[in-house]
Amino acid sequence: MKLIRLIDLPPLGDERGSLVAIEANKHIPFEVKRVYYIFGTQSGVSRGFHAHKNLHQLAVCVAGKCRMLLDDGVNKESVWLDSPTKGLLIGNNVWREMHEFSNDCVLLVLASEYYDESDYIRDYSDFIRDKK
Ligand code: TYD
Repeated sequence: MKLIRLIDLPPLGDERGSLVAIEANKHIPFEVKRVYYIFGTQSGVSRGFHAHKNLHQLAVCVAGKCRMLLDDGVNKESVWLDSPTKGLLIGNNVWREMHEFSNDCVLLVLASEYYDESDYIRDYSDFIRDKK
């Protein structure tokens, strides 16, 4: 499967400005159980460095930008999330790292499951071992 799966989130704009709507099982292929957002990231800080066993997510920078690196254990690819109309689907068993956050970055994440620490793979060598 393609590592970088971008989804176009068309803005419903009019003369007042823009609005984006994201509907479960329509724009994204899962039910949404959890929403979180990352903001106020200190300069030079990178985040993520984990994979999930079962979780599916959509990540969108609703303000500012950051660079998302995905790694399926064989290939690594990175993409700038730099538009509120650009969503990145991240499936399970994909290692992710977020780098180069702009000061104003607000990274919104829609997730298919509730928070569950036991779903995380936080050790890169465990991730590679599980892949084999
Ligand atoms: P973490 O997943 O490590 O953040 P990142 O992947 O961005 O580096 O989460 C940071 C902290 O927040 C950690 O203590 C777990 C907690 N957390 C929740 O309680 N609920 C959540 O939905 C998320 C994503 C994190």
